[in-house]
Amino acid sequence: MDHIKQQMEILEVGYRCPSNIALVKYWGKKSTGVQLPANPSISLSLGDLYASTTVKASPRTDVAFVFTLAGASKPSFEPKIEAFLNKIAVDCAWLSDYTLYIDSVNNFPHGTGIASSAAGFGALSLCVAHIEQLLMGYAALDGRVNGMDFWQRSSYLSRIGSGSACRSMYSQPAVWGESDAVAGSSDLYAVEMGVAVHADLSGWKDVVLIVDDGEKSVSSTAGHALLENHPYALARFGKAQENLASIVGAMRDGNVKSFIEIVESEALQLHAMMMTSLPYYVLMRPNTLAIIEKIWQFREETGLPMCFTLDAGANVHLLYDGKKDETVMNFVHNELLSYCKNRQYLCSETGKRPVLI
Ligand code: DP6
Repeated sequence: MDHIKQQMEILEVGYRCPSNIALVKYWGKKSTGVQLPANPSISLSLGDLYASTTVKASPRTDVAFVFTLAGASKPSFEPKIEAFLNKIAVDCAWLSDYTLYIDSVNNFPHGTGIASSAAGFGALSLCVAHIEQLLMGYAALDGRVNGMDFWQRSSYLSRIGSGSACRSMYSQPAVWGESDAVAGSSDLYAVEMGVAVHADLSGWKDVVLIVDDGEKSVSSTAGHALLENHPYALARFGKAQENLASIVGAMRDGNVKSFIEIVESEALQLHAMMMTSLPYYVLMRPNTLAIIEKIWQFREETGLPMCFTLDAGANVHLLYDGKKDETVMNFVHNELLSYCKNRQYLCSETGKRPVLI
């Protein structure tokens, strides 16, 4: 133990972890287990929108962790981190011997509706999984913990913090939730899609059009809970299973038409579930719809490979073939930014994995 404590004092790691955008949506949790999805989902990592987190593990003082956001204390973040560390203590018994000094910063503004919790919990989990490897001996474990490799283990831990976070670990499209269409898929952690993406559907980019940067009226966690006793939940979970299988085939075969149809339908189904929950609610704003209509019109006129998707908020993600960057960005500037709050938008490539910093 003394030996471990000596090691602990120099245990400091850092990871940069991307956010991600779901193509087939995770919406609804199983009623048993810790944060297990009611249906499988698939996402692309947003490598240019990331959290950078460092964790230093030192012999335990009277506190389990100290959290800072870019060096400054941020008490409002502490309850979520505390709950997360308490939940993963079952898996990481060693945490009780340590105080974690956690510092995190996102390279995109908080409250823009893009999944900061995915990047944040992803980066923190990567640090925890890395320290676990250092403490337990990577070689002795062959890099595996409970049968999971490092990325799966990081994904497993981050899932407990926020479900969507577990899909931020891979450069390939990431699948979370059991599906017959994806070998090795699991409810416990995300895996890579496992088949190569066709050239016509790789190298796509995302422009996030910020329609509303305020606090959401209903959080994702509350939204998931409304799927219990939802009249259309079972039909939705079945449709997501089908869409997952179809989109994997479309990405493999380069079927752009089918890809676009599934992605846009998934976004609208997500919001349809919100509108048909009890209590019902609407997170789209008038400018969300205005942007969607502009995208449809532009696609009709130009035939360019592009589509929209939404997460649980008012902002619109415009996904497009990166080879058409100039034309699409001109369209964004000329036709879409007037619908954005203070003309705000964020850009990212897709398909980058986390990196050690
Ligand atoms: C609409 O992962 O934020 O973005 O697991 O409760 O933290 P918790 O929820 P969260 O839900 C994200 C839902 C979504 C769709 C998706 O990312 O698949």
